[in-house]
Amino acid sequence: MHRGQLLSFVADPRDGTDAASYTHFVDGAMLVENGRIAALGPADAILATLPSDFPVVDHGRNLLLPGFIDNHIHYAQSDVIGAGGRQLLDWLNDYTFVEERRFGDARHALEVANFFFDELARNGTTTALVFCTVHPESVDAFFGAAARRRLRMIAGKVLMDRNAPEDLCDSPAAADTESRALLERWHGQDRLHYAIAPRFAVTSSPAQLQVAARLARDFPDAFIHSHLAENHAEIRWVKELFPDARSYLDVYDGYGLLRERAIYAHCIHLDDADRRRMAASGAAAAFCPTSNLYLGSGLFDLAASDAAGLRFSVATDVGGGSSFNMLRTLDEARKVARLQGEDLSPLRAFYLATLGAARCLELESHIGQLEPGREADFIVLDLEATPLIARRTAAAQSLSDALRILMTLGDDRAIKATYIMGRQVHGTPAVAA
Ligand code: GUN
Ligand code: ZN
Repeated sequence: MHRGQLLSFVADPRDGTDAASYTHFVDGAMLVENGRIAALGPADAILATLPSDFPVVDHGRNLLLPGFIDNHIHYAQSDVIGAGGRQLLDWLNDYTFVEERRFGDARHALEVANFFFDELARNGTTTALVFCTVHPESVDAFFGAAARRRLRMIAGKVLMDRNAPEDLCDSPAAADTESRALLERWHGQDRLHYAIAPRFAVTSSPAQLQVAARLARDFPDAFIHSHLAENHAEIRWVKELFPDARSYLDVYDGYGLLRERAIYAHCIHLDDADRRRMAASGAAAAFCPTSNLYLGSGLFDLAASDAAGLRFSVATDVGGGSSFNMLRTLDEARKVARLQGEDLSPLRAFYLATLGAARCLELESHIGQLEPGREADFIVLDLEATPLIARRTAAAQSLSDALRILMTLGDDRAIKATYIMGRQVHGTPAVAA
């Protein structure tokens, strides 16, 4: 049994009063059985149902939250963070493609996958939607390591057959055969899901986009994962490659790649017709503020997305993004909103990193909330992680204030512990009293 301050969202804070959007127990308790949450509530009520010698892990005033969910990240770019290049296309050619070549080597892929999972745990991220590379070896290494850790992870082989170095290109036929074999090996194994992942419209031929569409039809509960409308030069190139499409989004739409469980990273330079079309299809956007600022791509429009009913979550996009840490990423998301005269409230920010992201993935019956029956992937945030955080939190007048302080000042130091299926995987082992 875990005792501490518990916070979990039940709705988007934007859709009603703030207070109706979450459950919060200042002195709460959560009972975990067989990797799932069995009961949750005020500590005295839960304790009353248990024998007096039942072991309790006391987290004091620290804040228990569902684990963060990162809906767009490239594990093979863990060693690309902070690379040079100016904007997207140079950065891809000069640094990213060079690094991704190394993932045909299964040993290298496994070493990076294990580093990546350790880093996610240190940063409180318990589920991610992940790009591997074009090499099937990169996918096997990733899922093998995820399975050993019993993680709920979503990933897939990159499809790219043009406009990239030849030794990083597959073909429509190889994309089909390799993806099918990987889907059959990994999709639905324990907590793993497969994502069909055409890299972006620039690097897939029409024949390969057709393969992606056929895979999506044959595996209706698989994810679709790609990039969309990130950078002006990229968008001009897509227009040249697909002159008949109304917009960049329309390229994917024309191949049947918009649906629920389709997640498109960036979605910066869309028009309102695109946003409404995406919303109607059930597809969702991944807003990647640190990447969009690092690569100078532009500002994601939160208000226009909300007005169109387009669902989105906040994601890191490592290694275009500059941090694995969701607190750092939420802080940048708020700055992107403010540069456009908008705002991102602390409550909504934490919603977007937990339940909001789970909803974009249609995985909210498994993860994203502290609720009986959900998988016990949760984190403990240290409200005294640094002297400044402790000082500012002591002066907080409300939950909202405390969350604002965490997202403004917090980083990996604030992630005191991470639990997967009820088992601690990061932090000093908590002592049961
Ligand atoms: N567009 C196509 N590939 C990539 C990538 O690896 N990172 C980002 N940020 N955008 C892309
Ligand atoms: Zn990306």
